Amino acid sequence: MISPLYTEYARYYDVIYHEYLVERVPRIIDFVEEVFKRDAERDVRDVLDIACGTGGPTIELARRGYRVLGLDISSEMIKIAREKARKNGVQVDFKLGDMRRLNFNEEFDAVTCFFSSLGYNLSDEDISNTLRGVYNSLRKGGVFIADVPNPLHRFDRWVKGTPVIWRVQSDNISILVIDVKWLTNTVTPILEWERTLIVKHNDKIDMLFDKHKLRLYTASELKLYSRITGFKKTKIYGDYNLIEDPKQAGRLILVAVK
Ligand SMILES: C[S@@+](CC[C@H](N)C(=O)[O-])C[C@H]1O[C@@H](n2cnc3c(N)ncnc32)[C@H](O)[C@@H]1O
Repeated sequence: MISPLYTEYARYYDVIYHEYLVERVPRIIDFVEEVFKRDAERDVRDVLDIACGTGGPTIELARRGYRVLGLDISSEMIKIAREKARKNGVQVDFKLGDMRRLNFNEEFDAVTCFFSSLGYNLSDEDISNTLRGVYNSLRKGGVFIADVPNPLHRFDRWVKGTPVIWRVQSDNISILVIDVKWLTNTVTPILEWERTLIVKHNDKIDMLFDKHKLRLYTASELKLYSRITGFKKTKIYGDYNLIEDPKQAGRLILVAVK
């Protein structure tokens, strides 16, 4: 089942993540282009962006001249992504689909998966299916890039389930976000993520709830799963710096080469 966060409340995604989409995504794509040059063993032109959401990174890649296909399981997110690309005059294809059931045959030079989305592969079977589909989608020498949270970085806060509160504001929408990410299972670390949104839209106030799960993968697991899938080279960068196997990082960036 797809979380309400990405269906009923999809229209609030770009308001909630405005700072990520406007400030961080261009810098992330700068990093990704460096990885294309440094780690891919072929020129990158065709890119598949899985779990593309409202298309922030997808559209930024297309704006820089790549031929991009964005794929997401939520039709609401895809609809917003298509509309944004059209408004910005950027040519991108979007397709509804499940990353666990990719059906491409060596059509891409790179596959990307941004903003923790790989964690929606909750079971071993899910992650194996996704990685196999990614591998089959890539041409030889192509590269897979995925960014996920480092499970060990905020471990204390997650085990305690400490709430985090923040507020975002756009022209006529003001949203208070209350997040509780709670690691109730520390054996196979799966975050229970509860989000409450208090949305003031013009003169109307709504309180909305979402609850879903996100699996956390360690750097070693990411590498191991990728090697088992058949990727010949795997690397971990941290926090969008080109330093391999960092000692500290809030975010892990998996780079796997076919
Ligand atoms: C946190 S958003 C990330 C969106 C985008 N990558 C970004 O950077 O803004 C997670 C996305 O994963 C999508 N998703 C979750 N499970 C999926 C699956 N099995 N296949 C494809 N997309 C999925 C959701 O619909 C949502 O759009």
